Amino acid sequence: MYHFFIAKKLYLRTIIPKNIQAMIKRLILCAVACATMFTATADEGMWLPSLIKERVKEMRKKGFKLKAQDVYSDTKPSLKDAVMQFGGGCTGEFISPEGLLLTNHHCGYASIQKLSSVEHDYLTDGYWAKSRSEELHVPGLTISLLERMEDVTDRIAAGESKADIIAKASEGKGRRASIESMYYGNQFYLFVYRVYSDIRLVGAPPSSIGKFGGDTDNWIWPRHTGDFSMFRVYADANNEPAEYSDENVPYRPKRFFPISTKGVNEGDFTMIYGFPGNTQEYVTADAVDYVVNISNPMKIALRTIRLDIISEAQSKDVATRIAYAAKHANIANAWKKWQGESLGIERLGTVEKKRAYESEFALWAAGKPQYAHLLDSMHAAYEKAIPGYFARELFNETISGIEALNFAFWLNTQQTRGTKLTADIQVKGRNRYLNDYRVEIDKAIAKRMIAEFITRMPAANVPTQLTAAINEKGSVEQFVEELYNNTLLINKYPLTTEEITADPMVQLAAWLTPLAKSNGAYAYRNLSNVPSIEKWYKEYMQALREWDKERAFYPDANFTLRVSYGTVTGYENVDGEYHTHLTTLDGIMAKDNPEIYDYNIPQVLRDIYKNKDYGKWSIEKYGKSTIPVCFLASNHTSGGNSGSPVINGKGELIGLNFDRTWRSTMSDIEFDPTICRNISVDIRFVLFVLDRIGGAGYLLDEMDIK
Ligand code: ARG
Ligand code: GLU
Repeated sequence: MYHFFIAKKLYLRTIIPKNIQAMIKRLILCAVACATMFTATADEGMWLPSLIKERVKEMRKKGFKLKAQDVYSDTKPSLKDAVMQFGGGCTGEFISPEGLLLTNHHCGYASIQKLSSVEHDYLTDGYWAKSRSEELHVPGLTISLLERMEDVTDRIAAGESKADIIAKASEGKGRRASIESMYYGNQFYLFVYRVYSDIRLVGAPPSSIGKFGGDTDNWIWPRHTGDFSMFRVYADANNEPAEYSDENVPYRPKRFFPISTKGVNEGDFTMIYGFPGNTQEYVTADAVDYVVNISNPMKIALRTIRLDIISEAQSKDVATRIAYAAKHANIANAWKKWQGESLGIERLGTVEKKRAYESEFALWAAGKPQYAHLLDSMHAAYEKAIPGYFARELFNETISGIEALNFAFWLNTQQTRGTKLTADIQVKGRNRYLNDYRVEIDKAIAKRMIAEFITRMPAANVPTQLTAAINEKGSVEQFVEELYNNTLLINKYPLTTEEITADPMVQLAAWLTPLAKSNGAYAYRNLSNVPSIEKWYKEYMQALREWDKERAFYPDANFTLRVSYGTVTGYENVDGEYHTHLTTLDGIMAKDNPEIYDYNIPQVLRDIYKNKDYGKWSIEKYGKSTIPVCFLASNHTSGGNSGSPVINGKGELIGLNFDRTWRSTMSDIEFDPTICRNISVDIRFVLFVLDRIGGAGYLLDEMDIK
C-alpha cells in the first residue's frame, strides 16, 4: 500500500513544475504517516453489514470462520437477527431462544432506576427475577430489530420521494423505517426495523459490580467493571410486537448467540456487531482544528466548573452524593472523553497530517474544474458556520446546564404553545427537570455559567434584557442571587398561569428563547454536517474516492448497524509499559476499599474470593485460580456500541463491549491501530456473577453454552 503511495508521488514529480517540488518533497516525508493514517488498516472501519462480503477475505485471514451470509442476510436467519438497538442509544443481543437479551448495566441503568424505590433499591442491591412472573416490565423501553437494509440511492435519484419509501417500508405492526445518508449524501440506505415494546428486566448485578470503578475508572484500563444487565423481549402469540400485556409470551428470535466459555487469548479474532453513533473520519483539517482548539477546550473548561461544584457538594453530604450521582456521571463521561480525544489528536498530529493530505489533494484537483474549488469552498463554509455552531455548543454547555432554567424553558414553551399547565402536567415537568434537585448546587452553577456565557459569547448574541438586568443589579452574582430568591418555580406547586408568566426564571428563559431558536440552525450531529458545509462534502467524498484509490472507505457512524473486526490484544500504554489484554478478580480485590464509594464491592464477593468459591468459572493465572473480568481488543467502536456483542471466529459470544481506553477516544476522528482499544466484559465474568452472586444459575439453562 505504502509503495503505491510513494510511486504516485514520484510520478507526479515528473509532470509538475519545479516551483512546487519543494512542497512535494515535504509531502513525501509525511508519506509514511499519511499512508498509515489514511489507508484503513486492518482494524479500522465500521462496515455496513450488507456489504460485508467485501471484507470477508480479510476477516478470514484474522481467524473468522463464517461466511458473509452468516453475518448478514435479508432472507435467511443471520447473526444480525441476534443483534438489536437497545433503547435510544445502545446495543443488545439475544442469548437464548426465549428472547433473553444482554446489554450493559449503564444501558439498563435508567430502567433499573425507574423500577427501584427506597424499599426495592435494585441499583444498589441488584435484582434477579426468580421466575418469568418476576420479570419487571419497563414502561417506555423499546428495542429495534433490523429486518433489512437496502441501498435506495438509485430510487431516490430516479425521483422517488424519501417519505414515500419510508411510508411503504413501515407498513405492518411495530415496523419502523428510516433512510440514512452515507458519505455525506452520496448514498442513501433504507433501514427497516421491528420495534418491540414489551421489555422486562430479568436481572442486574448490584452497582458495586455493574458500575464498579464508577467515574474513576471510566475510559480507563486496567478495568474491572461487570457492566451488564439482562432483559427479556415479549411478543404476542404470533411473535409480533405488542403493547405490554400479561398474555404476551417471550419473543422467539430468528437467531441468538451461543456462548463460548473457552476464553480469550491475545491474537484471537473478534468481531463487534452494533450501532455506533458518531464518527467523522473524513473531515478536513479545519474541522479537526475546531474540535481540538475551539470546541473541546470550551466544553472541558465549562464542565470542569460544573463538576467541581457538584463534587464539592457531594463530598459534604451523602444524600447529595446519591442525588447527583447520575448527573455527575453523565457530565463527566463526555468531559473525560474529550480530554483523551484532544490529547490523542495532538499526539497523532492529525491537523497537520490532514493539511498535508489536503495540499496533495489540491495538486491533484487543480486541473479538474469540478473539484479544484472544493477545499477553498469548504474552508470558506467553515469560517462562516463556526461562529453559529460555537454559539450553539456554548449555549448547551452553559445555559442548558442550569436545571431550574431548563424547567423555565419548558414552562415557557408550554405556555407559548397554549398548553394548559394543569397540576398534573406541572408534576411531569418538575419530575423531569427538578429531579433529585439541590437548589444550592444549581444556583452556584447558574452564577458561574451565566458569567461564562456572557464572557465567551459574542456580545451581539447576548440578549439585551439580560445585559441590562445584570448591569442594573451590579453583577452576575447579584442578578442570580435575586433570580433564585424571587423565583417560585422551585418551591411552589402548582403554579398559577400568572405566577408562571411573571416568574423571573421564566422571563430569563423568554429572553434567551430567540437565541435558542437561532441555534436550531446549527443543530446537526457535527459541525461538518451543517448543510452549508455538508453540501461540499458530497463532492469531496467523490473526489477522495477517485483520488485516493488505496484508501478503504467506510461510512461514518450514524447509529446504523455496523460490523467491526480486530483481535484480542493489549497495547503499549507508555514507552516500555505494556497493558495486557485481560484483567481478573485479583485486580478487583486489589482495588476493593469499603471507604471508597467506587471501589466498595459487595461482601459476598469478598467471601467468594476468600474461599475461592468460584464454581466452574475459575481460570488459572500464574498457577493460581481466579476469575476473568474484562479484556481489550482492537475493534473500531464508538458511543452507541455499548452493549454490543463481542464475537469470536465461530460466531460465539465471548464478551460484551462497554468502553474504550481513554487514549483511544480520538478514534472517532482518527483511528490509530497501535493504541485504539475497545474494552469488553468477559462473558465468563457475566456468567460467574449471575451464577455465584446473583443466584440466577437457572438462566444458564436457556443459554447455549459451549
Ligand atoms: N464510557 C462509557 C460510555 O461512554 C461508559 C459510561 C458509563 N459509565 C460511567 N462511569 N459514567 O458510555
Ligand atoms: N460507553 C460507550 C457507549 O455507551 C461506548 C464506549 C465508546 O464510546 O467507545 O456507547
